[in-house]
Amino acid sequence: MDMKICLMPGDGIGPEIVEQAVKVLDKVAKKFGHTVSYTNALIGGAAIDATGGPLPDDTVAACKAADAVLLGAVGGPKWDTLPTAIRPEKGLLGIRKALGLFANLRPATLLPELAGACLLRADIAAQGLDVMVVRELTGGVYFGEPVCEEELRDGLRTSYNTMIYNEEEVRRIARVAFEAARKRSKKVCSVDKANVLAVSRLWRAVVIEVAGEYPDVELTHMYVDNAAMQLVRWPAQFDVIVTENLFGDILSDEAAVITGSIGMLPSASLGASGPGIFEPIHGSAPDIAGQNKANPVATILSVAMMLRYTFGLEKEAVAIEQAVSGVLREGYRTGDIMEEGKTLVGTVSMGNLVTERV
Ligand code: NAD
Ligand code: IPM
Ligand code: MN
Repeated sequence: MDMKICLMPGDGIGPEIVEQAVKVLDKVAKKFGHTVSYTNALIGGAAIDATGGPLPDDTVAACKAADAVLLGAVGGPKWDTLPTAIRPEKGLLGIRKALGLFANLRPATLLPELAGACLLRADIAAQGLDVMVVRELTGGVYFGEPVCEEELRDGLRTSYNTMIYNEEEVRRIARVAFEAARKRSKKVCSVDKANVLAVSRLWRAVVIEVAGEYPDVELTHMYVDNAAMQLVRWPAQFDVIVTENLFGDILSDEAAVITGSIGMLPSASLGASGPGIFEPIHGSAPDIAGQNKANPVATILSVAMMLRYTFGLEKEAVAIEQAVSGVLREGYRTGDIMEEGKTLVGTVSMGNLVTERV
C-alpha cells in the first residue's frame, strides 16, 4: 500500500507528539512492506503566525490531496485574546467542516496495564471501561447560526450561540453509531438533554427512527447530566455512546481520564468519503509544551485508527496497539500515567520504545 499522509502538527505539544507518531508509522510501513509519503500543513496558531489566519487555503488543499491527515493539536495562551473568528480553534473547526467530517469516533478503553492509573475505586476499575463515544462533529452549537459575539439587550452586554440540528445530520451520525455497535456489544446509548432542549427532542426522535433499521442493536437514552455521572459510577455499562458535538466533547474528556489520562485517547474524524483527520482528543497542553513530558500515545493510537479506518490495515493497526500495551506492561510511563514502582520516561523515549516494539 502507498499512503499519502498530510501532517498538521499545530501548536504546543503538537509537533512533539506528531514526531513520535510518524516514527511509529514509518516503522509499521517498513515492517509490513508499505510506503508512506508526507506533506506538512499549517493550522492553528502556527498558521496564524505564518500567514495571519488559522486555516490557510493551502492547508485545505493539502488535506484534500492526502489519503489521511494526522493532527497534533491547536491553540495556546499566545492566541487566546484573538476574536473567535480567527482563533486557532477556528482553524480546526474549519478543516473538519471543509472535509465534511461529521463523525468523530473516540474509543476509550481502560487497558489492564493501566488499571492502577485509573482514578476510580479499584472494584469499579476492575469491571473495566470499553466505550466508543460517537461524537457528532460538524453541527450543534459549535456551528449553529445565528451567533452573536456581543450586543446590547436592555442595556446589558449579551451574547449567544445557537444549538441546531436537522434530521439528516442526526440520522447519519446515528447510523455510524449503530454500525459501530454491530461490530461491538450491540448497545447504543444516545445522550441528550431532551427534558429541556427542543433540539434534543428532535435528536431523540430521529435516533429512535434509525433504531428501526437495527433491530439487533439495543437502544437506550440518557440525559447528559446523568450520563456524566454514570460514566464514573458504572463505566462498564456503556458500549457505544452517541451524542451531539458539545456533549461529546465533554464526555470524551471524562471517559479519557478513566483510562488513566487524556494523553491516552485517540480519535478518528470521518466523513462520508474523502480523507479523515486522525487526532488525539487532548489539546496543545501549553503547560508542558517543549519539555519532553507529553504522552505521545494518544497520537500513536490515532495512527492505528488511521491504518484501520482509512487503509483497512487491521494487522498493522493491531501491531501498534500491541506495541503500546507491551511498553506499558514493561512498566514505562510518561508523567501523566506515572505510578509508584514504574519507570518514568519522556515523550521521545516513549515514542522510541513503541517504535522498537512494533
Ligand atoms: P489540554 O488537553 O491541552 O490540557 C489539559 C490538561 O491535560 C493539561 O494539564 C495538559 O498538560 C494535560 N495533557 C493534555 N494532553 C496531554 C498529553 N498528551 N500528555 C500529558 N498531559 C497532557 O486542554 P486545555 O488546557 O483545556 O487547552 C489547551 C489548549 O488546547 C487550548 O488552546 C485549547 O483550545 C486547545 N485544545 C485543542 C484541542 C485540539 O487541537 N484538538 C483539543 C482540546 C483543547
Ligand atoms: C477537541 C477540542 C476542540 C473541540 C476544540 C479545540 C475546537 O476540544 O478536539 O476535543 O471542541 O472539538
Ligand atoms: Mn475537546
